[in-house]
Amino acid sequence: MTTTPSPALQARVNGARLWQSLMDLARIGATPKGGVCRLALTALDGEGRDLFVRWAREAGCSVRTDAIGNIFARRAGRNDALPPVMTGSHIDTQPTGGKFDGNYGVLAGIEVVRTLNDHGIVTEAPIEVAVWTNEEGSRFVPVMMGSGVFAGAFTLEHALAQRDAQGTSVAEALTAIGYAGADGPTPAVGAYFEAHIEQGPVLEANGCVIGVVQGALGQRWYDVSVQGMEAHAGPTPMELRRDALLAASALVAEVNRIALAHAPHARGTVGVLEVFPSSRNVIPGSVRMTVDLRAADDAVLLQMDAALRAACERIGTAGRTPIAVEQVVYFPPQPFAPALVEGVRADAQALGYSAMDVVSGAGHDAVYLARLAPTAMVFVPCADGISHNEIEDAEPEHLEAGCNVLLQAMLRSAQVVAA
Ligand code: GLV
Ligand code: MN
Ligand code: MN
Repeated sequence: MTTTPSPALQARVNGARLWQSLMDLARIGATPKGGVCRLALTALDGEGRDLFVRWAREAGCSVRTDAIGNIFARRAGRNDALPPVMTGSHIDTQPTGGKFDGNYGVLAGIEVVRTLNDHGIVTEAPIEVAVWTNEEGSRFVPVMMGSGVFAGAFTLEHALAQRDAQGTSVAEALTAIGYAGADGPTPAVGAYFEAHIEQGPVLEANGCVIGVVQGALGQRWYDVSVQGMEAHAGPTPMELRRDALLAASALVAEVNRIALAHAPHARGTVGVLEVFPSSRNVIPGSVRMTVDLRAADDAVLLQMDAALRAACERIGTAGRTPIAVEQVVYFPPQPFAPALVEGVRADAQALGYSAMDVVSGAGHDAVYLARLAPTAMVFVPCADGISHNEIEDAEPEHLEAGCNVLLQAMLRSAQVVAA
């Protein structure tokens, strides 16, 4: 096996260039509060993609797009027939998203390619930087859509048929922005690495720069609808009402209780609550809501699922407000590849960065890539642990450190042949 020659070990990314690229991309969809709103497959997402493609081509990469709109920028290896060592993430954001979630992983990949070019480093295996479609799952469900199709977690047809709240399908939105590529078999991947902000407070609280990610929590997402009866707020006595919002409120509290019952690694969130007809003197006739359950253990996640369904039954019966529950996302907890995880730890140590083990509470494209190839993630802190928020922030030197770890970890997998 080829060992990494020292010029490659000495190579360091250009932190200022990485930061500038993050700021340039963040201008597309910038919000007045300093965040980014670049929902998946909107015109703004298209503009962000165009910028990525331009930068990738300027860095000498060939670029292709697959049928779900994932983009792959490839830097050739000496043996270009080898499966690529891949990195990447997403550039779609939450409606009130930040500059770093996902964008960091994609631009860290571009920075790795630029650094390899600067140092004339030739790798045995090709390097690829991926932009995965609709990781956020905010405009279209399921979450982690592009990587899910790539890894065969669900079909291309299922993903293309999903519609946003306005009725636009994924297929229509992809065509509108010009990113519907050709269908074909999923190519082999040699290894996958993803750099990401932590999106939680653990690294910052421990004064650590690098999170060595052991794996990610499993998730179950649901669409829930509560059926009551619209009636006049005045004449209808309290005991005769079928108030859908009252039942939904009980369920919100129950979701919280279910997660607390499995502390510290379980989570339960109701993020969307739509009340119909939303008129102040009409008893709510129906409610649509979402539930997001997460756990580190698949058996626990299943217990939480059972508890949610039992609560819906109980609350629905008590209020004469039937509650329908549809699961729309499920993936089990995903451990990452021990050898690659240890490589990330060793690289952080060799580079002199403080590091600690962490578990990802967020979903990432790496969760699905781990079904195809040995996978690892590199986390860096974000300010106050806040993410999915316009105020999301990160220190340039932490982003640079994570990118240096990413570079070395990728070089170990891709093998350096010349520098
Ligand atoms: C992805 O952003 C998630 O919800 O974990
Ligand atoms: Mn993300
Ligand atoms: Mn996110």
